[in-house]
Parts: sequence; structure tokens; C-alpha cells
Amino acid sequence: MRHLLTLQDLPRDTLERLLDAAQALRPDALRRGPHRPLRGLTVANLFFEPSTRTRASFQLAAQRLGADVVNFDAESSSTRKGETLVDTLRNLEAMGAGLFVVRHTHSNVLAALAGAAAETSSVVSAGDGRTSHPTQGLLDMLTIRQHKGEDFSRLSVAIIGDIRHSRVARSDVEALRTLGVRDIRIAGPESLLPDADAEAFHGTRTVHDLAQALDGCDVVMMLRLQRERMDEGLVSSLEEYYRDWGLSPEALALAKPDAIVLHPGPMNRGVEIADAVADGPQSVILDQVSNGVAVRMAVLEALAR
Ligand code: CP
Repeated sequence: MRHLLTLQDLPRDTLERLLDAAQALRPDALRRGPHRPLRGLTVANLFFEPSTRTRASFQLAAQRLGADVVNFDAESSSTRKGETLVDTLRNLEAMGAGLFVVRHTHSNVLAALAGAAAETSSVVSAGDGRTSHPTQGLLDMLTIRQHKGEDFSRLSVAIIGDIRHSRVARSDVEALRTLGVRDIRIAGPESLLPDADAEAFHGTRTVHDLAQALDGCDVVMMLRLQRERMDEGLVSSLEEYYRDWGLSPEALALAKPDAIVLHPGPMNRGVEIADAVADGPQSVILDQVSNGVAVRMAVLEALAR
């Protein structure tokens, strides 16, 4: 594996090997251990959109594996003076960086960067427009596997919220399909659902009602309501959104009693999820965050080989 830009078409054995490696790295993920295979490598974090979890966990993952890390600040960089992203990458390569972690608003920028990178460099997506967020998909699968076991084929999974604009939903669906989930329910207000022919959601079932989406499901994946969608007129009010699509304790009771609740963050508490659910016994949201470090360690190690 030279680059990781998407989970689409990633073979099942590769995906499972990454999950196995991340699981094995869990003890090293939360403190610096003796395992330092990336010593001598420089990882550059290039984020052109805000991030808390992904940026911090890629930085920690690289450091815990012994790499040097450059945290490139897009706002104060020479891209503000018109320098292109390809020139930025080449300049960082000239300083010895060999692995580029990139988040960008526009889809396809990452593919162009990967195409322009030196043969010895790798590019990993930290969020690519609305099309993919592969390491989020992997950490979500690791979290589900830890709570529900390795056989995904019997799981019912509901993905709820702003599906249309969500790169997390796309990567999760790709990974869930690869791991054999047959019942993937996509639910949200009509204005936030993908087009019926959207290839990324092939094989999923669209549900137009929260109760139907949650009915008897094993895994509930809530998505952030992207508040900018209100400005676009796609959502009428936060109160209505919570009433119709918010995950309250009463709504969660429609899922299986041992259902788990995921959310990629950042959460809008009281909009898509109630405090009592986000902080409740079925929430695995902070497990996702811890798993993010382990997954990113596994990915960086695989790319550096
Ligand atoms: N889940 C996620 O991508 O969070 P950040 O935007 O904080 O990185």
C-alpha cells in the first residue's frame, strides 16, 4: 500500500489486517512505548480544514512510532501567498518529509497530490471533501469489532443524519459492505439524503423515519448536523431537527438493548444527540477516539514499509 485515499476497493484481507494491526497497537497508542519503527521518517500534517481528533491523533500516532512531525498551518503558510499545494508538497519533500497526511475541502485534491508526490512519498487522506475519510472508517470498524465481534454479517447498522454531505458515511458504508454487513440503513431528512443513484450508497436501504431506522439495530452511527446546511435552507430549525432526528434515550430504546452508539465528532449536543445518550452506557464515542490513534499508527506503519 503506497497511498491511502479511500476505502473503496480496499480488499477485505487488507482492511482486516489493518484492524488486526491497530488492535495489537492499542497498548502503545495511549503512551509512548518501545515500538519505534518510524524513527528517521518525517510525517507532514497538512490540514486545510479544522480538525481536533484527526490532526491530534495522526500527530500522536507518528510520534508514538518514533517519527518526526511537521504540523503545517495552512492559515499562516505560503499557500496564502498563492503557492500551489503541489509546490508545498515538493518543498516539504525537499526538507525530508516522506509521508503526507492531508485534509482538504475539495474532493480530488488528494489524488492530484498523490500523483505529484515523489516515488518514495506516501499520501494518506485525513478527509477528502465529502467523498472519503478512510481512517475514520477504519476506526469505526475497529470500535464495532471490539464490541460486536468479528462476524459483521448479522449486524444491522443505522447511519443517521446528514448523509448527503458526509465523507464519514461514505467511508463507513464502504467498510461495512466490505466486511459483509447486509443491513445498512441510511436515514435523515429528505434534504440531507444522497441522490438515489449515488454509487457510494449502493446496497444500503434508505429509511425516512427515525423509529424505522433504529428498530432492532445493533449499531447506531450518528452524524454531525453540519450547521452550515441551515444557511443553505436544507434544515428548518435545530429544534425540529432534534425532534425528528435527534437520538434521545427514548429513541435509542427502539434499538437492541445492547446496541452501541457511535459519533465521529464533533458532536452538536441537543441537536443530533442527547447528552444522556452521548455520555450514557451505550456510547462508544470515546472508544472511537482512542482507537483513532491505534488505527493511524497501523496505517502509517503500513505506508512506511
Ligand atoms: N472525526 C473527525 O474527523 O473529527 P475532526 O474533524 O475533529 O478531525
